[in-house]
Amino acid sequence: MSDETGFIRCENLVKIYKFEEIEVFALQGLDLSVERGEMISIIGPSGSGKSSILNVLGGLDTPSAGKVRVGDHDLLRMDDNARREYRRSSVGFVWQNVTRNLIPYLTAIENVEMPMILAGTYRKSRAAELLGIVGLAHRVHHTPARMSGGEQQRVAIAIGLANEPSVLLADEPTGSVDTGTRDQILQVFDMVRSTLGVTVIIVTHDRDIAKAVDRYVEIRDGKTSREAVRRSDALLSTVGEAGEGGRKADTDRDEEETHELYTLLDSAGRLQIPRELLASRGITDRVKLTEDGDRIVILPPGPASEADLKNKKRR
Ligand SMILES: Nc1ncnc2c1ncn2[C@@H]1O[C@H](COP(=O)(O)OP(=O)(O)O)[C@@H](O)[C@H]1O
Ligand SMILES: [Mg+2]
Repeated sequence: MSDETGFIRCENLVKIYKFEEIEVFALQGLDLSVERGEMISIIGPSGSGKSSILNVLGGLDTPSAGKVRVGDHDLLRMDDNARREYRRSSVGFVWQNVTRNLIPYLTAIENVEMPMILAGTYRKSRAAELLGIVGLAHRVHHTPARMSGGEQQRVAIAIGLANEPSVLLADEPTGSVDTGTRDQILQVFDMVRSTLGVTVIIVTHDRDIAKAVDRYVEIRDGKTSREAVRRSDALLSTVGEAGEGGRKADTDRDEEETHELYTLLDSAGRLQIPRELLASRGITDRVKLTEDGDRIVILPPGPASEADLKNKKRR
């Protein structure tokens, strides 16, 4: 991770929340790289640091240490004024909670105009144009109460794009809608990405969102642990190809039909081995690392390891 590629780049990013005497390490040396115009999702369980990374990338929270850059903006070095300006002009947000996205007594178009008015960038045609892109040309004069949950989130996407941000950040944007609506909203994100060239990051705990994006990264304990990239032969691959799939979780097998899964190495060469794999081999705090031709083999400690490896080879 020492090369400087990526439109968005985090290296060894740390975020510590301090509350009186307590310190919470929300991000613990996270590495992430996203290309301009890419749409990725970040998946992880509750408390893994998803909102923290989004809040740092969006300039809502200050990082504690490490590197974090969005385009030319170095978010670690930014002062408060620069951060405020960055937040207003370079990023758009979509939240899970519809009431955080929309002003209830304004129509769809007035909601989209509001951030432009506040930023002094008001352009009459832009709001209507954006509502057209998200497929709501027929709802411009509706208030949120007269729209479905999915339509409200589409207005939220248009609001997020009002000030022509280069990055759109969405925190569990489909968290409170049904599956059909979720797929529609994901299509809208993909549409704005391809139409406007905006970089989209969707944070979620929903495994099915993985299916909809070309690349997603998994976050665990404040660190990116695995990455999945859509296979070019996604339609051809079958469940059988998962090999020794019997040991893997069903969700892994489903994803391997469409995505190639990778375990990430951090900038120091460390990798996170899934807990289930460690538990199934009785591995706790140390392993034996050996080479076997092209492979690097991780074995449980103890004299048995060498014998295990030889037996495997013979079979
Ligand atoms: N403002 C805050 N003050 C203190 N701790 C926080 C704050 N925000 C998040 N945390 C803690 O940081 C960790 C990561 O939280 P968060 O990023 O919200 O996770 P996620 O969005 O994946 O559920 C959790 O342990 C959470 O309790
Ligand atoms: Mg969260």
